[in-house]
Parts: sequence; structure tokens; C-alpha cells
Amino acid sequence: MLRSPWDYSRRRDEFVAWAATVPALANPAATVAWNTDKRYLAELAAAGVPVVPTTWLSPGDPVELPADGEWVIKPAVSAGSVDTGRYNLTDPSHRALALSHVARLVEAGRVTMLQPYLPAVDTYGETALLYLGGRYSHAIRKGPMLDGPDLGVEGLYKEEAITPRTPTDAERAVADAVLAAVPGGADHLLYARVDLIPGPDGSPLLVELELTEPSLFLGYADGAADRLATAITGTLGR
Ligand SMILES: Nc1ncnc2c1ncn2[C@@H]1O[C@H](COP(=O)(O)OP(=O)(O)O)[C@@H](O)[C@H]1O
Ligand SMILES: [Mg+2]
Repeated sequence: MLRSPWDYSRRRDEFVAWAATVPALANPAATVAWNTDKRYLAELAAAGVPVVPTTWLSPGDPVELPADGEWVIKPAVSAGSVDTGRYNLTDPSHRALALSHVARLVEAGRVTMLQPYLPAVDTYGETALLYLGGRYSHAIRKGPMLDGPDLGVEGLYKEEAITPRTPTDAERAVADAVLAAVPGGADHLLYARVDLIPGPDGSPLLVELELTEPSLFLGYADGAADRLATAITGTLGR
């Protein structure tokens, strides 16, 4: 079972190739290959899942930033909020930093994502719903992670502010819809985490589906560790 290979994003191709050599890996290697590149979000959006609107910039594409507003720039292969920044494009200094952030990513050959900053994360936060053995287990609130331009992260991930949360019915419904849209279905998943932030009209939007190496926040809900253990032993006979 994959747990915390949080430096994989720097060596993603090697990681995916290694995963394919592991017998009975959970989650399966094909899932890891699909889920370690956030372009899966475009597939889920095409399947009808409400996803944060995203513009994709591939190396070689012309870079045109919106005239104003707050925007997020991040790489398609990433984890731990590394290489992720928030820019107010009305501010000329932010605009210059945003352009150099995009240039740094695409010059390194990385597909880059541009998204509107969802301001609800500053107050309501992000809701992460954890599924263990195919069933909803628990949820947490994660505080906002981005306070401005990307100035680099020390280590493999940025510190997070986590508290337990009871998800709304709308969040449960979107998370179920996300899992139902996973190629091959969700039955083969030992664990899954669906990260949602309210959009402009308050309804939940998918920011990330974590099927590779999610923090499972087992300490934030009674019985979660036992549910994971039961899910693991349940796979052993297969
Ligand atoms: N469009 C967005 N609006 C607001 N906050 C965002 C947005 N995209 C990312 N973030 C913030 O940045 C964090 C990291 O982004 P995410 O897409 O989850 O990538 P990863 O966790 O793989 O680094 C999120 O937890 C969230 O706090
Ligand atoms: Mg995330």
C-alpha cells in the first residue's frame, strides 16, 4: 500500500514505472499512472463532474494571462502545494511574478494549470472526504494554503491546518459522483480522497482527487484506522 512517497512528483515517470512492477499494489498501478497527472480533472469534467475551471498550458503554447482577478498557477504533476502560487493579476508586480512562474514551469517541460482562485477557501476552507474500501469514512477541513506568489516550499509539502468536519449533503453527493466517474469504477480502490472547495455560487467544486498518496487523516475520526485495517484485510483474499 502506498503511503507517503511525497517526492514522486519530481520523478513521476520513474515512480509510475516502479508502481507497475509491484504485485498487488494498492491503489493499482494503472490508477497511480492516471492519478499522478492532474489532467485527469479534464476527463472528470467531461464526464459531468463539477471541477474548478482550468486552463491548461503545455510547453510551447502562447502564454496569455487574464486581465484581472485572482488566479492560481500550479503544475499538473505536483503534490504538497509545491510550485503552487496565488496571483492578483491586477497588480503589475504579481503579474510579472505569475509570468515568470508559468515560464519556469513550462521551460522545465511541465504542463501548467491556471485556475480562478476560489475565495471561499479563505473562510469555509477545503473539504476532504475520505473513502476507505469503497465506502465513505470521514472528512476533514483544510485551511487555505495559498497566501500569495510561489516563493518556494521548504521540504516536500506545505504545513496544513486540519480540523474534523461533517460534510454537507451536496459535498457527499459530489464526492460520490467523482468516484463513480473514475475510469474502471471505484470498486478496485482501497482508499480515495476527494478535495472540494465551494465555487462562486457556493456549490462544491472538485480541486483534486487523490488516489495515489493521500494523507488519510485517520486520527481525525473515530474508527477510521479500524475501517482502513478492515478494508486492507478484505483485499487479501482476492
Ligand atoms: N483554484 C484554487 N482556489 C483556491 N485555492 C486553491 C486553488 N487551487 C489550489 N488551491 C490551494 O492550494 C492547495 C494545493 O493545491 P492542489 O490542487 O490541492 O494541489 P496539491 O495538493 O497536489 O499540491 C489546495 O489545498 C488549496 O488550498
Ligand atoms: Mg491538494
